[in-house]
Amino acid sequence: MPAKRLTRSKPFRILGIETSCDETSVAILSVDPRGAVPKVRILRHAVSSQVAIHAKYGGVVPEVAARSHVPEVIALLTSQLGSKPLASFDAIAVTKGPGLATALRVGITAAQTLAYMTDAPMVGVNHLEGHLASAWLLPENRRRWRFPMLALLVSGGHTEIVLMKDFGAYRILGSTRDDAAGEAFDKTAKLLGLEYPGGPKLSKLAEKGNVSAYDMPRPMMHDPSLDMSFSGLKSHVRRLVGDKRVKGKTLYDLAASIEQAIVDVLVAKTMRALDLHRVNALMIVGGVSANRKLREDMAETMKVHHPNIRLLRTPVVYSTDNAAMIAAAGAWRIIKGERDDWKNLDAEPGLDLGCEGGGVAKDIGRESCGRGAP
Ligand code: KG4
Ligand code: ZN
Repeated sequence: MPAKRLTRSKPFRILGIETSCDETSVAILSVDPRGAVPKVRILRHAVSSQVAIHAKYGGVVPEVAARSHVPEVIALLTSQLGSKPLASFDAIAVTKGPGLATALRVGITAAQTLAYMTDAPMVGVNHLEGHLASAWLLPENRRRWRFPMLALLVSGGHTEIVLMKDFGAYRILGSTRDDAAGEAFDKTAKLLGLEYPGGPKLSKLAEKGNVSAYDMPRPMMHDPSLDMSFSGLKSHVRRLVGDKRVKGKTLYDLAASIEQAIVDVLVAKTMRALDLHRVNALMIVGGVSANRKLREDMAETMKVHHPNIRLLRTPVVYSTDNAAMIAAAGAWRIIKGERDDWKNLDAEPGLDLGCEGGGVAKDIGRESCGRGAP
């Protein structure tokens, strides 16, 4: 059978598969690239989280994650592809990295099997580019999509300020030198006695606390570079709390002060990046972008310091790991005419976002999704 062909002028349906860490997810998007603003519809989308499985270990155990993806990816594909599974998509996008090698391979193997059976073109997607593409899922953002743009990418494994010059052409302007913002949330939450993943739980408790009750460190906030550091915050909280079991007002105040410190650093560095680079829009993506305080403080500060730069709203449901964003980033590559050789696609656990110009992803040789069990 000749390979299915997709051209820029034709609508297509793309299947997305995500298994890089502890969420298994499958989605199908219909994409019509004709016209100034592409039309995108999310036809199917399901996420199955392994949070309950990993909570008892205090973080993600790679081997357990990989094994749990196997039945889940089969269950999701069976339920989402419908009665004519092989006729329900024209192209396949699968996360190839960064993430846990064995977990990534589960999704890749599923995608390879489907590519073999259908001859549909397949692309391996950089999970981080997937997070960037999550903003593209909203029609109002697609209408306002004008490069260059700035993205604050904040997840469990990554904290990066990204200059987006074009689809696939990214420059990292700054990143964390140690823990990612999501890791800072999760690790400090753990010190407060909250169950993994503590980020959202800490944020909920913070709503009842006083943000200035504790003077938390904000390392590198006034440093001229766009790099960040969050590990000092964790050490500070460890010293403050020790082995004590905190509760009530103390717990709320600690949570609020921690959250404010993380948010302050992220907002200050993003503002500095906007001072230094002319862009048309800013987006906040990745799991931590679900944080309400971050969204509110960023919007407020933008109004004062950069009122003319548009803040693209990103849908909270697509902030954390999901396959709709992977299908969207895959669609970008398919529209450009790019394909990967499915037989030779392999996991790239240490993949980072691309360098200046070509957007070529480089392997930094680190396997993690930033949420490992201690
Ligand atoms: O993007 P994501 O789902 O996975 C990675 O690619 O890492 O991000 C997960 C991270 C976790 O660290 C989680 O605690 C954090 O996002 N997170 C939050 C919130 N929701 C998720 N952190 C703070 N506040 C939230 N509301
Ligand atoms: Zn992610």
